[in-house]
Amino acid sequence: MKKQTRVTHPRGVKLIDGNDAVVSPVYRSVKFTYPTLAESLSAESKEHGFDYTRDSNPTTRELELLAADLQDRDDAIAVGSGMAAIWLSLLGNLSAGDRVVIFVESYRPNRVAVRRFLPKLGIEFAMLSVRDLPAIERTFAQNDTKLVLFEAPTNPMLQVPDLEAIVGLAKRHDVVTVLDNTFAGLHNHGRYGIDFFVHSLTKYANGHGDVMGGVVIGDKKRIRAIKPLATNMGSTLDPGAAFMVQRGLKTYYLRYERHSSNALAVAQYLGTRKEVSRVIYPGLPSDAGHALASKQMSDFGGVVTFDLNANEQQTWAFIDALELFVTTASLGSTDSLVSPVKLFLGSDLSAEEQARAQIRESTVRFAVGIEHIDDLIADISQALAKTFG
Ligand SMILES: Cc1ncc(COP(=O)(O)O)c(C=O)c1O
Repeated sequence: MKKQTRVTHPRGVKLIDGNDAVVSPVYRSVKFTYPTLAESLSAESKEHGFDYTRDSNPTTRELELLAADLQDRDDAIAVGSGMAAIWLSLLGNLSAGDRVVIFVESYRPNRVAVRRFLPKLGIEFAMLSVRDLPAIERTFAQNDTKLVLFEAPTNPMLQVPDLEAIVGLAKRHDVVTVLDNTFAGLHNHGRYGIDFFVHSLTKYANGHGDVMGGVVIGDKKRIRAIKPLATNMGSTLDPGAAFMVQRGLKTYYLRYERHSSNALAVAQYLGTRKEVSRVIYPGLPSDAGHALASKQMSDFGGVVTFDLNANEQQTWAFIDALELFVTTASLGSTDSLVSPVKLFLGSDLSAEEQARAQIRESTVRFAVGIEHIDDLIADISQALAKTFG
């Protein structure tokens, strides 16, 4: 073989039977082949084989199976971002003429998907409050309501939906439930009869703020029904990213535990400060969602939302004065982050809708990281002193 040919056909190195890599390899190959066409068409190949990475890839598949296990389901589709996962769950289940229920307390891009883009496809929406069960029931009872997209807890206002009640109403009225479970994490809420879980893997799953990904998780039958759309849409997660997310997942439980204990300590500290008028964190016994969250979740995550006794200018000054908390979007990575809620997460809402969502100009969201708690408290304390004297 000439060297020009050799470089495109290097000698493959295969592990001998019984000689295994301890960490799974990254299969970067886009294409997979079989010795014969007949073998490529066998039932075994169709069920477990690989052809083309947009369809499936061993590295990505390993992540999908792991995510499904953690969420107590048996199948999943990994995609390029959390928003791609949201879109897959919407387009995979809806047709023109259908109605979607969304909540005013939700993550802004989830709202934007439903309010701005779905109507272009002839799909209408109703935007309710996640706490308004009578309105939810009335809307579910309308024949054209086909799907509810909700979050637990909601981003950024940390409202805790009653999962048993919402799932019960949805089943009664044949409404597909899609729970964006990014905040609660892969280890929470699996025992509820949710049809599809969606996660931004960019957050707690990867955990280091250096990879994007998303996943839709459900029972095999439901996942199989939307798989052809995922393949055709080309929303596939790159195997390199899948490997990074899976590496992050090895420390997922440790990190989530630390995010949660740090967030609780931050929430408690904020509650002692006169500059703070309200703290929202479902882990606080005084929080309106505490009883429900304690029933539904094993821990409460790293996000704390609060209001300052301040106008918008002072609120921004406080955010600018923080040194460890980095001003940016996102959450669930090792480092602590801060966002002005109205500016970053509420600007698509009218003043009336912001009021319904309880978003004020003084509302701040912390995504608490895994640093030493003493340093985080010291940073908040110095920023309060600098802003309020
Ligand atoms: C609740 C929630 N859902 C979905 C997403 C979107 O995820 P991604 O940024 O990976 O597209 C985010 C991102 O912040 C989120 O917080």
